[in-house]
Amino acid sequence: MLVLGIETTCDETAAAVVERQADGQARILSNVVRSQTDEHARFGGVVPEIAARAHVDLLDGIVDSAMKEAGVGYGQLSAVAAAAGPGLIGGVIVGLTTAKAIAMVHDTPLIAVNHLEAHALTPRLTCALAFPYCLFLASGGHTQIVAVVGVGEYVRLGTTLDDAMGEAFDKVAKMLSLPYPGGPEVERAAAGGDPTRFAFPRPMLGRPDANFSLSGLKTAVRNEAGRLEPLEPQDISDLCASFQAAVLEATADRLTVGLRLFEERFGTPRALVAAGGVAANHAIRSALQDVAAKAQTTLIIPPPALCTDNGAMIAWAGAERMALGLTDTMEAPPRARWLLDANAKAPAGHANSRAGY
Ligand code: KG4
Ligand code: ZN
Repeated sequence: MLVLGIETTCDETAAAVVERQADGQARILSNVVRSQTDEHARFGGVVPEIAARAHVDLLDGIVDSAMKEAGVGYGQLSAVAAAAGPGLIGGVIVGLTTAKAIAMVHDTPLIAVNHLEAHALTPRLTCALAFPYCLFLASGGHTQIVAVVGVGEYVRLGTTLDDAMGEAFDKVAKMLSLPYPGGPEVERAAAGGDPTRFAFPRPMLGRPDANFSLSGLKTAVRNEAGRLEPLEPQDISDLCASFQAAVLEATADRLTVGLRLFEERFGTPRALVAAGGVAANHAIRSALQDVAAKAQTTLIIPPPALCTDNGAMIAWAGAERMALGLTDTMEAPPRARWLLDANAKAPAGHANSRAGY
């Protein structure tokens, strides 16, 4: 089975061709990603209108490259998959419409993939992981703990009540005048800082649910930075180190609870899987390692190029759905919001529109 996957939900324009063999093994034939970071950097964040226009300009060429690199003709495709949400609606429309056009012209099935489902199924692409497993997804738009029980069977165990974790890193970077995207900058600055200089709050610590909250912590950093003005380089490092230490402790606590909730409902997870840009953070990775070890499970973090947004994960999710006969019609709508767990409700106190709870 050969599937073309298209991803345009945020600021990456991406396309890939993935092969799924009859035994469920995967082979990535091409995976082309064009990040728009430079276009958005001077605004300190993703500008939806700029992203949508860039997707329009770039997508045809990227799809063409993915097909050429894979050495595959359109007539050989078993399906065309596109991320149909959740995400910035302008970009989603560009990707989904392109996929529909290809499907129509070449008389190929269309698969409208949930972007979060694609993140959730990535470890089955990279290492054929069996269900059930626990996913920790932390990116610029999402912070969730999800029980991945089967294809199409996802139970959200925890989510953020306000900012996404990557968003919190980006906002802290911005208030300290560090460049965008802020996550790697904050990590770099934190490496030379004192994590004990500022006693920032550890949000949600000890709560029986597995939800996150990051906006209060972000505000505490802003207040402290304001008090210290003008900031010396060492102040910035200490603020970053103290912020990151608070995020680490909160993450370890929330995931420990999340894994306990998982165990109660689904038994021992085959693994704890981390995905999303924040999983690139070395301190967070080692905190996750400890959490997994304590819960007697294995930590799996797909390679960085498959942890962040890409077309291969969309193609793979499409292939998994196709294998179960789950295809879509030309009426499949683009969706700004699309819950992975249809039964999940917005948690009490939920305040943010970007987090996509
Ligand atoms: O998954 P991703 O590439 O894109 C989406 O948001 O969909 O995640 C990007 C996010 C940004 O907020 C970025 O600041 C954060 O991941 N990030 C990090 C690190 N590298 C990227 N956050 C903390 N530490 C890092 N090293
Ligand atoms: Zn993503």
